[in-house]
Amino acid sequence: MRGMTTRRHFLAASAGAGLAPLLGQGQTRSANDQIQIAIIGAGGQGSDDVRSSVAGGSKLVAASDIYQGRLTRMQEVYGKDLFVTRDYREVLARPGVDAVIIATPDHWHQKIAVDAMNAGKDVYLEKPMVQRIDDGRLVVDAQQRTGRILQVGSQRVSSIVYKKAQELMQAGAIGKLNMVEAWWDRNSAIGAWQYSIPPDATPENIDWDRFLGRAPKVPFEPVRLFRWRNYRDYGTGVAGDLFVHLFSGMHFVTGAVGPTRVYAAGGLRFWKDGRDVPDVLLGLYDYPETAKHPAFNLALRVNFVDGGSENSGFRFIGSEGILTIDRGVTIAKTPREAEPGYTVDTFPKAIQEEFLKKYYEQYPRRNPTADAIRPQAEDRYLPPQGYSDHRDHHRNFLAAVRSRQQVIEDSIFGFRAAGPALLSNVSYFEQRICTWDPVTMTQKF
Ligand SMILES: NC(=O)c1ccc[n+]([C@@H]2O[C@H](COP(=O)([O-])OP(=O)(O)OC[C@H]3O[C@@H](n4cnc5c(N)ncnc54)[C@H](O)[C@@H]3O)[C@@H](O)[C@H]2O)c1
Repeated sequence: MRGMTTRRHFLAASAGAGLAPLLGQGQTRSANDQIQIAIIGAGGQGSDDVRSSVAGGSKLVAASDIYQGRLTRMQEVYGKDLFVTRDYREVLARPGVDAVIIATPDHWHQKIAVDAMNAGKDVYLEKPMVQRIDDGRLVVDAQQRTGRILQVGSQRVSSIVYKKAQELMQAGAIGKLNMVEAWWDRNSAIGAWQYSIPPDATPENIDWDRFLGRAPKVPFEPVRLFRWRNYRDYGTGVAGDLFVHLFSGMHFVTGAVGPTRVYAAGGLRFWKDGRDVPDVLLGLYDYPETAKHPAFNLALRVNFVDGGSENSGFRFIGSEGILTIDRGVTIAKTPREAEPGYTVDTFPKAIQEEFLKKYYEQYPRRNPTADAIRPQAEDRYLPPQGYSDHRDHHRNFLAAVRSRQQVIEDSIFGFRAAGPALLSNVSYFEQRICTWDPVTMTQKF
């Protein structure tokens, strides 16, 4: 079949090709051909990613992690024959690996993603796509130069719930958009990133230098690895962890590419466990008018000290209604009153009478009837029980690996979500407003 490459041909063609890209753009592979994946960073999310990918039809053939316990666990789950290594470069050198999932802490994303694409691997790269703004271009350029498939791991963009919201917005369901609010509040130790530290976290079981990578050299201290989100050296704070999901979802629904102005405020209010990032963060963003949407404002919030329970959602606010996303999508509309009403009580009596005479000439008195009751419309759309956008996101990636067609969340989309999330940290820590060019994806100041 023209343009199709079976796995055997694919591997034969690659023999002797070193680390050159194995399957370029425009080439496709058989639909029956099982894609062989490897995981780099086999922690919480990496394990979930592998589960969703395998459920979507791939086969796990290798795993890399710098903590031995996670490699042992991968072999417990996927079999003793699974190739495991502490050095991710050994995974990239294996010709049988078609694609890698990168689910390391954020400070490794750019380096491993670029190395993987240079080694001819397709990449599923967890969010935030990069830890620093300067990293973004390097990933985008590597994707374009190598022609590899790269999917960023903010799974909302593959969700049928967000697709429904996108369709409703495009159909004008809420009139003219003027504001979006989105939030992610939590009220638990695990929600605030206090993950368990295993009792075998020793220098023998952990390749400490390889965890640190480009981060400053510090003595062995397991909490910095197992709760890496708490430290700016390895993570990206609540903005990179959670705002980025909200940016991805919102950009997908509205077609927006990003804000031009970014302001964030917040503080460390409760989880004073040595972390150097805030546990409450608010962000405000200006989105200028584009061909896809009118000018609007975005307000984001993460609060890890919410006295209630964890909840997260969106409100898209328009001139004719509000679209809410929680587990599903709701459109609520309250039509405006047919007449403007009046506030004349404080005017002199004669002036009141003059005003009301004219008012009722324009808006004649009517006895309310049942027909005059304005409908308060509310439409709700719910996904089927057990629906997983994560699985759909991996399926989208695997389909692109086969067909060499575009993924739903490429490096440009990923950087346009990560950029303003990372600038929220710059704004918070430097106590200033930041500006961003969302088209060229560059920080202005
Ligand atoms: N898409 C989502 O909904 C979602 C959810 C959670 C986490 N994430 C993202 O996934 C990534 C991982 O988060 P997590 O919660 O799984 O963290 P985690 O700490 O549970 O897992 C990270 C793993 O990477 C390993 N690691 C560290 N440096 C490494 C290196 N140089 N080479 C190989 N392995 C290395 C660690 O030992 C650890 O096992 C983060 O970027 C995070 O933002 C995404």
